Amino acid sequence: LASIEVDVSALQPGMSLTVKWRGKPVFIRNRTDKEVEEAKGVPIAQLKDPVARNANAQDGAQATDLARSAGQGKENWIVMIGSCTHLGCVPLGQAGEYGGWFCPCHGSVYDTAGRIRKGPAPENLHIPNYAFVSDKVIKIG
Ligand code: FES
Repeated sequence: LASIEVDVSALQPGMSLTVKWRGKPVFIRNRTDKEVEEAKGVPIAQLKDPVARNANAQDGAQATDLARSAGQGKENWIVMIGSCTHLGCVPLGQAGEYGGWFCPCHGSVYDTAGRIRKGPAPENLHIPNYAFVSDKVIKIG
């Protein structure tokens, strides 16, 4: 399927869902305020990959928390391809020392905005084209 629609109404803050899109896992997470605050507090200069890697943002946009999220008013939502940018393993959620994602294959650690913080992965987790088509439904692709 070129695109899919996902009902996210059951996802309370702190909950996530993995769906399959074009043969790949896609992580959808309703982040807690604390997770958003932690991600916002990180200076861009501290990031290994300062680029947003967000198909919905402008080319070369910086990897601020806002640019990684679903945007203004929906900053708690994050949608990412669940494929480690090192060699493509599927990272585990709510794991690793930054409380984001941890890749068990070679130890890459991503923060709560899916940005690479440690380990061999070169890039932030990629964000596919997606949009909220209603308050409850996300269309991916
Ligand atoms: Fe994730 Fe190597 S594939 S760290």
